[in-house]
Amino acid sequence: MCGITGYIGDHKTTDVLIDGLRRLEYRGYDSCGVAVVDAKNELYLRRVSGRVDALDELVAQDPAKGANVGVGHTRWATHGAPSEDNAHPHTDCSGRVVVVHNGIIENYLDLKEKLLASGHKFKSETDTEVIAHLMEEKLKALHVQEKAMRADMLEPVFFEAFRKTVGDLKGSFALSMVWASCPAMVLTARMHSPLVVGLGKGENFIASDVSAFLKYTKRVIFLNDGEMAAVKKDGIDFYTFQGKKVSKEAVTIQWDSTMAEKGGYKHFMLKEIHEQSEAVENTLRGRLLPLGGDVLKAETGLAAAAMKGFSNIQFIACGTAYHAGLVGRGLFENFGLRASADIASEFTDRAKLMAKDTLVIAISQSGETADTLFAVREARSAGAKVLAITNTVGSTLTREADYVLQTHCGPEIGVASTKAFLGQLAAIYLVAGHFAAARGVLSATDARRYAEDLLKMPRLIEETLELEKDIAKVAEAFSHSEHFLFISRHINFPIALEGALKIKEISYVHAEGYAAGEMKHGPIAIIYKGMPLLAVAPSGRALELMAGNIEEAKARGADVVAIVDAVSRKTVKASRYITLPQAGELFTPMLTVIPLQIFAYYVALAKKCDIDKPRNLAKSVTVR
Ligand code: AGP
Repeated sequence: MCGITGYIGDHKTTDVLIDGLRRLEYRGYDSCGVAVVDAKNELYLRRVSGRVDALDELVAQDPAKGANVGVGHTRWATHGAPSEDNAHPHTDCSGRVVVVHNGIIENYLDLKEKLLASGHKFKSETDTEVIAHLMEEKLKALHVQEKAMRADMLEPVFFEAFRKTVGDLKGSFALSMVWASCPAMVLTARMHSPLVVGLGKGENFIASDVSAFLKYTKRVIFLNDGEMAAVKKDGIDFYTFQGKKVSKEAVTIQWDSTMAEKGGYKHFMLKEIHEQSEAVENTLRGRLLPLGGDVLKAETGLAAAAMKGFSNIQFIACGTAYHAGLVGRGLFENFGLRASADIASEFTDRAKLMAKDTLVIAISQSGETADTLFAVREARSAGAKVLAITNTVGSTLTREADYVLQTHCGPEIGVASTKAFLGQLAAIYLVAGHFAAARGVLSATDARRYAEDLLKMPRLIEETLELEKDIAKVAEAFSHSEHFLFISRHINFPIALEGALKIKEISYVHAEGYAAGEMKHGPIAIIYKGMPLLAVAPSGRALELMAGNIEEAKARGADVVAIVDAVSRKTVKASRYITLPQAGELFTPMLTVIPLQIFAYYVALAKKCDIDKPRNLAKSVTVR
């Protein structure tokens, strides 16, 4: 829910930290701060209740002198309201130990009680501040003669006190700490919150995710739960919390910082909507043919033989990822496999009821969503195998699943998920096709046709994106509406839910996605004259019934926008049409969602909402 950065090197430390925080603001942005050790080995600390730009201005008024080590933080409040006092970094009583943290210290109240009892003075309501005071206690217990010892003699003391501090913490944390008496080292540790280090030349970086320092280096090492690192200018050593040295492999991130820039679009969200064709293409690349073969085995560990062993599929996810799971349910059912899709936070009691030969498919763009991780752990303890579909290399979900299929969408910065959703669909279509072919549900001819249809999707997505201007016009006609309805049927029902979620989260208006067949069972009562109703009605089995539902809605005054293709356009009678390229019925969700994303974007634009960082939301919800 927050973003942390750390730096040690010869660049201007506050610049590097603040630059990194800007790239992490999507993780939380109600307050932020930096702390560096200056040339006099004093701590320079600046914090604001607001965004990183405000912090940058504050630092510029009275810059730090000669600093080359420090930490930074951008916050999404979990304990204590957004305020300067509650903003990180937090210090101990001496003001020489400083810490930044992402996560929740579950035992902070017990620790705080003991620390207060031994005379510590707290300045914030946060759980994080406990870490700084605990460290102060550990240093004291090591009888540190700070003044008498050279800084390099203090390094093992700093390390040992930090290790003991981390050992006392329960809960989730990615934390980084600096001690003004030992400015040649930043210490960092990870438990249940993402943490990555960047390897530079004569400098090194720490962050919650790689986008914070991609402009400086693409060589990175992800820490696992229970690992800590001593980060110096000339190298990084990794240890377990028990102090055992660990050797770690660096990976090279293919993303460069321009990928995460807006690339000329007004918002990350619009840029990412336009990256969807590439996201699908990259996710399918080299993984489709021969369908039903072992092409996924090398990368995911999921062999065709294993696919024959599962006859139940259980999707688990949250939000948009859950909607992808609902499409997946329809797809697998279409291939004759029993499939369910559950919202992760509602799944727990079901874990023990799953059939033995169930494959759980956990979908998560960030791979850090606490609800999803919790449900996955429940499923695994019930004996299920888990396939993770995620967009984040090295995320926690990737290390808690049996099989991992990465979507290759590149960084998704906009809080409202778009290309990650299409990447998730591409991955699901890929897996479903392999399952169906491996189990003989698709004959060799049908499998070839399925693969051909799937490989057409990137081009059809591009053609759909060319409708942007027409869709923007339709959206502008409804930019004053406060209520929206989205309806569809069967494999496009989840798209109605997704369209409603998109417009809710970036335009802050009320919207509902409904199974069209359900309207007559109650919701049709809410339709008022002129109410915008978006009906997803491509060609297919449901078309006639959809046409009837649209008539019923219009008869009650709804202003209907129909998402159709050239064939269904002839059957449906609406006030406005968005006509998509023709695709096989099974594949239509990969197209029908796009006009709804663009529609939501232009309604939000007209309402002047903060599209990339909508109020109250964070990109990765790492608390339950
Ligand atoms: C979707 O636009 C939202 N950002 C949100 O619903 C998101 O899909 C959900 O929080 C799940 O996130 P994840 O994919 O990272 O697990």
